[in-house]
Formats: sequence, C-alpha cells, structure tokens
Amino acid sequence: MYKLLKNEGSARRGEFSTVHGTVQTPAFMNVATAAAIKGGLSAFDLKANDCQVMLCNTYHLHLRPGDKNVARLGGLHKFTRWDGPILTDSGGFQVFSLSKLRKITEEGVTFNSHLDGHRIFMGPEESMQIQANLGSTIAMAFDECMENPAEYQYAKASCDRTVRWLKRCKAELSRLKGEGLAVNPHQLLFGINQGCCYDDLRVGHMQEIAALDLDGYAIGGLAVGEPKEEMYRVISVVEEHMPKDKIRYLMGVGTPGNILEGVRRGVDLFDCVMPSRNARHGHLNTWKGIINIKNAKYELDEQPLDEACSCECCRNFSRAYLRHLFKADEMLGMRLAVMHNLHFYNNLMLRIREALDNGTFDAFYRRYVNLLDTRI
Ligand code: GUN
Ligand code: ZN
Repeated sequence: MYKLLKNEGSARRGEFSTVHGTVQTPAFMNVATAAAIKGGLSAFDLKANDCQVMLCNTYHLHLRPGDKNVARLGGLHKFTRWDGPILTDSGGFQVFSLSKLRKITEEGVTFNSHLDGHRIFMGPEESMQIQANLGSTIAMAFDECMENPAEYQYAKASCDRTVRWLKRCKAELSRLKGEGLAVNPHQLLFGINQGCCYDDLRVGHMQEIAALDLDGYAIGGLAVGEPKEEMYRVISVVEEHMPKDKIRYLMGVGTPGNILEGVRRGVDLFDCVMPSRNARHGHLNTWKGIINIKNAKYELDEQPLDEACSCECCRNFSRAYLRHLFKADEMLGMRLAVMHNLHFYNNLMLRIREALDNGTFDAFYRRYVNLLDTRI
C-alpha cells in the first residue's frame, strides 16, 4: 500500500508497505538479474549499503536455475537470503532485448534462449506462473517493450495487446494465489504503461490500465534510445493520468540526473543496471561528478574515492589502491567499485528523501542535476 507523506510540486515523499517490509520512497531498486549483483555482491552487501529493494529477472531465472527449482527451494527470499522486498521484471523486456528471432502473437512470444538457442514460449500466464514460483514481493505484468521508434499503427496495436495481456496477467495471478500455487500468497502486481513517444497512445493506455486497480504502475518503453528531453516529456504527460494513491515506477532509468528529473515529475521507484555496469568499467559516481578510476592521475592518489561517501571502499581504501586493483584485474577492484556505486545511488535517494522532508528538494535538484552526470 502506498502512502503519500509529503509533496513538493509533483515530487512525492512516500511509503510503500509490503509483506516484506516498508520501502521509503523515492527509492532505487538494486538489480540482481540472476539473483546476484554482478561484481560479486550478496544480499548481505545490499543490506550494508542501504538498499531497500532487490530486482530480479523472470526470464533469466526461468532459464537457470529454473523457477520450479527456486519454488522447491522455498522461493527467492530464502534462496538469496534477501529478506526485504523483491521485484521481478516480467520477461517482457528481456525477451525483446536479448532475443533476435522472436515471434509475437496474441498468445505471447516465442523466442530463442540466449544461453543455448532453444525455442521458448512465454505469454502472460507463463510469466505469472514463473513469478509465482519465484515468490517475489512484486510481479510485473508481461508487456511488449517496443523498439524506438515504432510506427504509430504498430504502437497502437501493441498497446491494445499489452492491455489484453495485462488483464490475463491479473486473472492468472489471482487464480494462482487462490489455488495456493503462489510461493508468496500476498504477491502484488504492477501494470506497465507503453506507447512509445506518442502522447495520445501513452495517455489512452495509462487510462485503460489505471481502471484495472493494480497495486502500482510503471512507465516502460523509455530510455531505449530516445533523446532525454523526449523521455522527460513522456513522463510528465503520463504522470498526470497515473493514480495519485498508487506507487509509480520508471523502468530502467537511469543516471543520477535522470533520477532527479524523474522524482521532480512524480516518480517513486527507479531501477537501472548503470551503477553496477559502470562500476565494472571503472566509471564511478561521486558527489563531484563521475571519475574513471583507471586514469593515470590516480596512481599516487591517497584520498578516498569520494570523501563524502561512507561505503566500505571509501572508508578504507585509497584511489591509488582501487586503481591498482583495476589495472591488475583483481576481482576485489570490481567488488569495491560496484559496492561504492550502489551505495552512492542508495545514498542519493536518501538525500532526495531528506530534501523532500525538509521542503528543500528544488534547491537540491538544481545543485546536483547536471553536476552528478558530469565526467571529471
Ligand atoms: N525494463 C525497462 N523498460 C522496460 C519495459 O518497457 N518493460 C519491462 N517489462 N521491463 C523494462
Ligand atoms: Zn564509496
């Protein structure tokens, strides 16, 4: 259940309560695609870095280790030892981003496994069955994330089908819960807004899914190559039609600047592979901008990576040591870097919440929106 605590303009400070605990929003969800954070972090590392929600993927876990095995092992919470909220993405996006030879029909999508190429079918019912086996806190609806740009007529037909798929998702999840087939009997369902960059499709689709009274609403199909001004415009256009009493999630976004823009437009939840992926390449977020730790200028730098950060890496090690670990391809380098970036993102959200609590979000936004995305 979402509770709005305070707002500043469209920006919202809230609380989202689930059976696995309450999430203070705005919040960032930390990506653990295959039930682990890439770079060698566990659920305990997430806890130590102020993470509130872990995000896993239906498609990856269906292929390996298999959702039925996860159910036999007691569900994702027991399997990973993460006791907070878990959101599972539906597979909709991964099917479209990872598989080239795919065939979409009214029933669902047939595609090739990215692991061994075997043909797999996934539709709304299959996605819900897999997510019910995983036992996540929040299941995402099975949607089509269209390519950008898409033809208007294609986008319109796709949106209509995504609404029909959403109704099937809702019916299937209640069947599974009713028959005692869901590992988490309190599993929530979020709908996903689509419509490319066509404002009328976005609004029409949002109105149709809002009428289905789901537990939360996501904006999908963004950060797929469109200019960021276009993304911000779509968020504002859709936001006006999102239920005020439900939590809102902007999927796959983004940089610290993108997140500040999203919060300013009324978004409560974010997720992105960016902090962990960038960290693995040595690109690290700091409160003064983005640094590349492999740069020669850090060879003898004894300062912490970010003096304003209290993560395990910044509390204990120098930039020179971290740079050396990267240069020597030591696994520790990646682990510390990923830990730092995730800590940074979770700390950014904490400071956004504090600013909203104090009524100083606008000043915070103006101070950091460009600075945090600048390479230094
Ligand atoms: N992750 C990022 N964008 C999307 C989207 O449009 N749909 C889904 N299911 N996941 C996403
Ligand atoms: Zn740090």
